[in-house]
Amino acid sequence: MAPPRSRIHSSEDARALARRRLPPLIFDFVDGAAGRECGAARNTAAFDRVLLQPRVMADVAARDLSVSLFGRRQGVPLGIAPMGMCNLVHPGADRHLAASAARLDMPLCVSSAASSSLEEMARMAGANAWFQLYFGGGAERSLAMAERARRAGYATLVLTVDVPEVARRPRDARNGFSVPFSMTPRAFWGFATHPRWSLAMLTAGVPRPRNFGAGAFDRGASRAGADWGFLSRLRDAWPGTLIVKGITAPEDARRARALGADAIYVSTHGGRQLDSAPAALDVLPAIRAALGAGTPILFDSGVRNGEDVLKALALGADMAMIGRPALWALAADGARGLNALLAGIVGDIGIAMAQLGVRNIGQLGPETLFAAPAAAPDGGGAAPDRAALKIAKP
Ligand SMILES: Cc1cc2nc3c(=O)[nH]c(=O)nc-3n(C[C@H](O)[C@H](O)[C@H](O)COP(=O)(O)O)c2cc1C
Repeated sequence: MAPPRSRIHSSEDARALARRRLPPLIFDFVDGAAGRECGAARNTAAFDRVLLQPRVMADVAARDLSVSLFGRRQGVPLGIAPMGMCNLVHPGADRHLAASAARLDMPLCVSSAASSSLEEMARMAGANAWFQLYFGGGAERSLAMAERARRAGYATLVLTVDVPEVARRPRDARNGFSVPFSMTPRAFWGFATHPRWSLAMLTAGVPRPRNFGAGAFDRGASRAGADWGFLSRLRDAWPGTLIVKGITAPEDARRARALGADAIYVSTHGGRQLDSAPAALDVLPAIRAALGAGTPILFDSGVRNGEDVLKALALGADMAMIGRPALWALAADGARGLNALLAGIVGDIGIAMAQLGVRNIGQLGPETLFAAPAAAPDGGGAAPDRAALKIAKP
């Protein structure tokens, strides 16, 4: 008998199912954002404002989704953003993410706050694993963590710089979310009414950040002491590829590159840090313009489907990363949910390329976007100015 099909056909399906399956404390930790959550909404709304221009009769029978990044061919222009404590949504989350990364040949960013150790993740995801570093406990401790990642075999390091202080996320504050959990009556009620999740956690053991000794991880610790001097020191110490994540200002992008960053990762942390930050997609063209053609750009914040991936690439990114949807899918339906979500996104990238008359990822650019003749009559944002986007990608 064929195995039951997943009920996940979109990120939205995954989110709706995850909401049912997870105790509110956990769903809100994943789904929530800073402040009034306008920044998170802005990230997804920005994608809806950008339109793609269909082109016909281009013989798109053979399409190639692969991209070349840091001297390596990756299977798809898609990766998984770094997320801490993934096993909170499903006991096998880290393992399933690693398996998907290997199967689709795509990068998996392993968070400093991962629920499996960086060594385990390197073993599971192999060359597709990139390590994400937070500046934590001062420069020496942070450099020591990078050195540990190097010894574990990582060739790519992602330094996240947009969390000088962890933002207050009202849903977490309301729920009393902390790592490890403190058992408030509200949390207890959530666990009791979601026995499937609670039993799975009791069987597998409650996850904790595994890159630190028990009790040694302080989620709210300040990282405000990080500065450009630290990036220089890290550049000197790290022999592999160095990516700086959380950049939204063109000047910061240029400065990071001048200090030796190999790539810039445009992100607003999914709206989890500064509620009034611009949408990540809206800053992307200016950052591509500031960097010119030679520097790869990774992108996340608001990517929900295959067409979103193509929009980010057309606006200057070399690879788009997804965050929350991967965790929603795992929470909703474990490995099967994650596979269904990723298969849907990758399938849609190929199908949308066919509608756009594009055979390979290198053909995506400003011409791929629909340019409205004048300001949109419905009051929506004007389409991006094609002339301003005329920058060849690497
Ligand atoms: C539950 C969760 C945990 C996260 N943990 C980290 C982290 O440890 N390090 C990091 O650089 N970003 C972290 N992020 C941010 C993501 O890497 C990414 O920037 C964001 O989720 C992308 O937006 P999206 O969720 O709208 O796709 C986390 C995001 C979520 C949802």
